[in-house]
Amino acid sequence: MVLDTVHAKAGSHLSSPFHPTYRVLGQDITVDLPLPTLILATFGALVALRYLVSFLTLLAQLTVLPGRDIKSFKTRNGKTWAVVTGATGGIGLEFARQLAKKGYNIVVLGRRQEVLEEVSRELETKYKVETRFLVVDFASPSSRGEKFAELGQMVQSLDLGVLVNNVGASHEMPVAFAETEAEEIDNIVQTNILGTLHLTRLLLPRLLSRSSKKGSPKSLVLNIGSMSGRIPSALLATYSLTKGGLQTWSQALAVEVEGQGVMVRMVIPAFVVSNMSKIRRASLLVPSAPAFVSSTLGSIGQSRGAQGRAYECTPYPTHALVDYGVGLLGWVSELGAMKVVKGMHVDIRKRALRKREREAKGK
Ligand SMILES: NC(=O)c1ccc[n+]([C@@H]2O[C@H](COP(=O)([O-])OP(=O)(O)OC[C@H]3O[C@@H](n4cnc5c(N)ncnc54)[C@H](OP(=O)(O)O)[C@@H]3O)[C@@H](O)[C@H]2O)c1
Repeated sequence: MVLDTVHAKAGSHLSSPFHPTYRVLGQDITVDLPLPTLILATFGALVALRYLVSFLTLLAQLTVLPGRDIKSFKTRNGKTWAVVTGATGGIGLEFARQLAKKGYNIVVLGRRQEVLEEVSRELETKYKVETRFLVVDFASPSSRGEKFAELGQMVQSLDLGVLVNNVGASHEMPVAFAETEAEEIDNIVQTNILGTLHLTRLLLPRLLSRSSKKGSPKSLVLNIGSMSGRIPSALLATYSLTKGGLQTWSQALAVEVEGQGVMVRMVIPAFVVSNMSKIRRASLLVPSAPAFVSSTLGSIGQSRGAQGRAYECTPYPTHALVDYGVGLLGWVSELGAMKVVKGMHVDIRKRALRKREREAKGK
């Protein structure tokens, strides 16, 4: 459009505010567009360029561009440790497995001792790595106080390179905020926010001290968020708050420590097969935990679906496209997504209540 209406008028010196003339390479160029139209057209072209660049970057990251090698956070002697919270099942267990496969020694945290012992045994036998475990209830300030002190002692002698803040609690089922039990609110906020913040506060000095040394590898913190933090989610308001809050905290932390050799990323999943999602079968939009973790560890440093948002990433391909789509038309698409999510949660609640009723009758 701009090119069609720009005409070179060699030798012409006629210029007006509506048809400005520019001298380029010895030629006078007169623009046949009124200046306001030219400004609008330029602005439109820049906006279109921004979308084009971000979309092409998204496609390149999803197809050909490799992420940073996860092994690059290890020291040369290979005795680097990773701490994974909520590692007794789902996404956390898979992070523990895939990091062990890459040669990291692993500290697993969770509430159930027998499962933690089993996970430790599996990692040691299958991947020939060392493990430690810690039984801790993230929702309980007293359990955190006691067990985090123990963990602080435990990691003193370890080369800690990776922290995966995966632990998370959600609502038993979607529920209106006005009807949410106080206990459920406390459990979610304590686990997702306070537990994660205090653990990171405890371990960050170890990650910083290691990475600040000259020639040392960087350290990595992955905070597992949720699409419910990205799209404010009716009927999961408290969970949504905690994941949105973690997102802002994670970005603030990332910019604070990036100059000191610690890379912090907020990882945003949509649905993944797990106990929390109560989805048992993988599909196009719902990956298995192994597939989700593999795409996360394979794209470290890339934003993927979180194009244009600092220190965030939406790694799984179909989640990435959804996230990108939600941001495409600004508030129009964001509001649309909020309404779609609300409808989905109303529906999930109805089905969950019907199931509960059936189970009660069956007893
Ligand atoms: N699955 C999804 O669709 C989805 C979507 C978006 C985000 N996420 C996020 O992904 C992360 C992992 O979720 P997931 O789907 O793998 O869930 P999951 O299968 O329910 O696993 C949650 C893990 O957290 C642990 N945990 C929960 N509450 C705890 C507490 N108070 N103290 C200590 N450990 C506790 C559980 O241990 P126990 O064995 O003791 O229960 C389990 O190991 C969470 O942060 C979640 O918000 C999941």
